[in-house]
Amino acid sequence: MTSCRTAGASANWPRLAGAVAGVVAALALSFAGASAHAAPSPAAAKAAAKVAELSAEDKACLECHARPAQPKMLASGEKLSLAVAPKAFAQSVHGGEGCEACHSGLEEGHDKQPRKIASRRALALEMKDQCADCHKKAVKQYDDSVHSALVRTGSDKAPLCSDCHNPHTATSLKDQAEASSEPVVCQKCHEGVSKAFAQSVHGSTGDEALACKDCHRTHNVKAAAFADNMRKECLSCHKETAATHAEWLPNADRHLEAISCPACHTPDATRRVNLRLYEGAAPHQSTDKVGVPKFVKLANWANGNGTGGLDARALWSMLQEFNQNGSAGKMVLRGRLEVQTGEQAHQLAAKALAIKDCDTCHRQGATSFQAVTVSMAGPDGRPLRHEASKGVLTSVESIGSIGGFYAIGSTRIKLLDVLLVMVLAAGIALPGAHLTMKLLSRRQRAKAAAAQQGESSGSK
Ligand code: HEC
Ligand code: HEC
Ligand code: HEC
Ligand code: HEC
Ligand code: HEC
Ligand code: HEC
Ligand code: HEC
Ligand code: HEC
Ligand code: HEC
Repeated sequence: MTSCRTAGASANWPRLAGAVAGVVAALALSFAGASAHAAPSPAAAKAAAKVAELSAEDKACLECHARPAQPKMLASGEKLSLAVAPKAFAQSVHGGEGCEACHSGLEEGHDKQPRKIASRRALALEMKDQCADCHKKAVKQYDDSVHSALVRTGSDKAPLCSDCHNPHTATSLKDQAEASSEPVVCQKCHEGVSKAFAQSVHGSTGDEALACKDCHRTHNVKAAAFADNMRKECLSCHKETAATHAEWLPNADRHLEAISCPACHTPDATRRVNLRLYEGAAPHQSTDKVGVPKFVKLANWANGNGTGGLDARALWSMLQEFNQNGSAGKMVLRGRLEVQTGEQAHQLAAKALAIKDCDTCHRQGATSFQAVTVSMAGPDGRPLRHEASKGVLTSVESIGSIGGFYAIGSTRIKLLDVLLVMVLAAGIALPGAHLTMKLLSRRQRAKAAAAQQGESSGSK
């Protein structure tokens, strides 16, 4: 710490001392119990009793911290209020633990030897480690989250423990309506998504509404677009999905894999095809740290100075380059039809509005297939995206790179159209139509099945 700061803070101290005398008197009253007052409400009496139960050490801390005169100025220019409310603290889950349980590092006389704190964030970051002593499970889950990964890579926006829990006032969650308080916690930082969710089929049902954690978890929040993280959550509640969709959708399993649920259940969304890089037959997208810079480099290189995004040839050479040096497994691209924004992913509507019309997708020039991205999962699982030209879905050169998706919106759509006409004409008699389809597109099906197997074996 600099002598200049020390001098400044010490100069504040005499003024603080004056205030302290008053606070001591006030605290003395509450320590003595509520008897000095006429007829305290039962709640006030309970709070006072809790304050009285605090240890002598805690009371000593609170003599200064119950009502400090000045906030502390931090190096960042922020003001840190030094106030800790005795009643709220005494009644909190941590009242019985004592200040020292978390602030063991503080030296006596710290008021006169102020230490340098860079920012509120730096303090919160430093204090987070204290929680692990008593909350191993929560800390372990949190350390495994995308939020924690973001913190580790330097984000100053991702939440730390004290962004969601006030350590001095936290009360037992069992006493709170946790379902209603939790979206508020998340909403602070995810406003757009939270608003969209509140209007959705899951968010607009009052007391029955789902909470963010029902799909994302609370502490071990994972990257939402990674592999089939979210689909697994949907299916954990909607167990009949495969069966109910198969009643009207041919090859429902394939559709449910190749299309994200919101792509059909947010009817007004703008959709795109996302070609995701996977490592060989592995069920997971690659999050290999070496692969990421390579992806960025290759994508930029393959794109040349082009402005329309990666074209089919560039995509092909990128894959070649990736697979050149015999990385652990061959990198492959798998297509997924998805919505374009996080807000849209949360606007799920009632089933009657969902997209059922085959034509929405199986039509030359279908709007859903006009936007294409290529993506790779970054180190924290969130996707790194690169634009691709929509031509990659129709170019013959893409057959090898993107398999099934090549068929959609391409010249091969003609074949699919024929199949569709047969399916539709066959009406209820789907099995017959399926057989014909099988014969006609055997090769394609074999490929799709192989990909499907790889993916579903990992989702178990
Ligand atoms: C359960 C752990 C825990 C306990 C117990 C605890 N604190 Fe804290 N305290 C923290 C954390 C974490 C922070 C950092 C808060 C943040 O990130 O804003 C903090 C911050 C503070 C600050 C800086 C100002 C502020 O509010 O951020 C003061 C002053 C403080 N504590 C005093 C006390 C006193 C006095 C007690 C006992 C009456 C106490 N603390 C008990 C965890 C605790
Ligand atoms: C004599 C009054 C006084 C007492 C007693 C006191 N503090 Fe402080 N405390 C201060 C002042 C003044 C500051 C601001 C010092 C500075 O600028 O760094 C401070 C700062 C803090 C901070 C924030 C800065 C940091 O280094 O983290 C915490 C936390 C804190 N005190 C906790 C405690 C705890 C816990 C106790 C009891 C063990 C305690 N204090 C006792 C006056 C006091
Ligand atoms: C993004 C907000 C958020 C962050 C960050 C967060 N929590 Fe929580 N935590 C919650 C919510 C909300 C609950 C309520 C229970 C639930 O919804 O699962 C909770 C519950 C808890 C509980 C009680 C239930 C349980 O799971 O044990 C503890 C203890 C806890 N958190 C500690 C921590 C610690 C320690 C950290 C930092 C490592 C942390 N939390 C980080 C939001 C958060
Ligand atoms: C010295 C032990 C200790 C430390 C350190 C500690 N806690 Fe706690 N915490 C407890 C106890 C004891 C409870 C109450 C019993 C319980 O529910 O687990 C509690 C409860 C909680 C709860 C409410 C849990 C519930 O089930 O209602 C939250 C949230 C919480 N702590 C957050 C934190 C955070 C954040 C930190 C770090 C800043 C922290 N705690 C540090 C001991 C501690
Ligand atoms: C019914 C399940 C569900 C619930 C409940 C839910 N989400 Fe999501 N969330 C999703 C899906 C699905 C995605 C998109 C995943 C993908 O791209 O494949 C997503 C994506 C996200 C993303 C990433 C957005 C982006 O821009 O890519 C954030 C942030 C998020 N959710 C936060 C929240 C918050 C905050 C809440 C509570 C208000 C919430 N979610 C509730 C299913 C849910
Ligand atoms: C203090 C701010 C903050 C709070 C509180 C917070 N988050 Fe986040 N969260 C972030 C930031 C920053 C990111 C990085 C990506 C971004 O900017 O959306 C993120 C990322 C995410 C992601 C991954 C997004 C993706 O692209 O896959 C999900 C899912 C998510 N948060 C859900 C939640 C949920 C659920 C809660 C409440 C339990 C919550 N967040 C609370 C700041 C916060
Ligand atoms: C190809 C578009 C499409 C896809 C992809 C899709 N759905 Fe549906 N879904 C629909 C349609 C259309 C209905 C309404 C069917 C009807 O007429 O009853 C529906 C109905 C539902 C229903 C209402 C109950 C039922 O089963 O009939 C749920 C729940 C549901 N879908 C969940 C999901 C989940 C979870 C996913 C992702 C794993 C998903 N859907 C993927 C189009 C789709
Ligand atoms: C925690 C359980 C849970 C999760 C997870 C969940 N849902 Fe739901 N969902 C429900 C409940 C409850 C309802 C309302 C009752 C009903 O219609 O089944 C509902 C309703 C729906 C409906 C409207 C059905 C109708 O009858 O109109 C659709 C569509 C739907 N969910 C899709 C999804 C999708 C897509 C996901 C994943 C992104 C998902 N759900 C995740 C519990 C869940
Ligand atoms: C939201 C867009 C969408 C809708 C709606 C849709 N499909 Fe598809 N369909 C796809 C995609 C994407 C694929 C390619 C999957 C793959 O092979 O990777 C596909 C593949 C197919 C295939 C080839 C499956 C195979 O075995 O390879 C058939 C047949 C098909 N769809 C029929 C239909 C019929 C019939 C309907 C209406 C009842 C329909 N689809 C509705 C997007 C859609």
